[in-house]
Amino acid sequence: MNCAFFVSGRGSNFSAILEKKKSGELNINIELVVSSSQNAGANEIARDENIDVFVVNNENQSEILPLLLSKKIDLIILAGFIKKIPDEIIIAFRDKIINIHPSLLPAFGGKGMFGENVHKAVIERGVKISGLTIHIVDEEYDNGKILFQKAVEVLPNDTPQTLAKRILTQEHDSLWRVIKEFSKKYE
Ligand code: GRF
Repeated sequence: MNCAFFVSGRGSNFSAILEKKKSGELNINIELVVSSSQNAGANEIARDENIDVFVVNNENQSEILPLLLSKKIDLIILAGFIKKIPDEIIIAFRDKIINIHPSLLPAFGGKGMFGENVHKAVIERGVKISGLTIHIVDEEYDNGKILFQKAVEVLPNDTPQTLAKRILTQEHDSLWRVIKEFSKKYE
């Protein structure tokens, strides 16, 4: 199964996937990383593995779809990608794009709900159980069919940072499992 990862930041989820690939627990080809930032940590991680990195901006956005098609991508994984995916890609890859989100959707999702904003809103609201969601990407932010969720308790003294860290640990142990389910079709 040929995969493309879309990233914007440090890339810890992407790293966790590379580890699972190296350990032999996950059998996929990582053909491409699309990054929305020139300085994303994930770009370096990819280049160290000799994976092509395409840094997207407003001018070259239309080049992504031909690139995905030329690399025969089967599954697109949004691992901390903060930009909206162009509709033409969603249409061409219907049900073949997944996203990981650090809350129990449909709560605390949608436009602007990324990174620390999510955990800050969760704590301010007094929510006792948060977690993570892996879902299919459609035309609306954080809206598609839910494939996987894991609950994480919000502790009385949690800050957005401590909660984010505990959820991230669970993200690293979750995303590869969903990708593995997809990959079974290609074995
Ligand atoms: C993760 O919390 C993920 O759920 C969210 O963005 C963050 C990405 O972190 N969509 P990283 O770049 O994988 O470390």
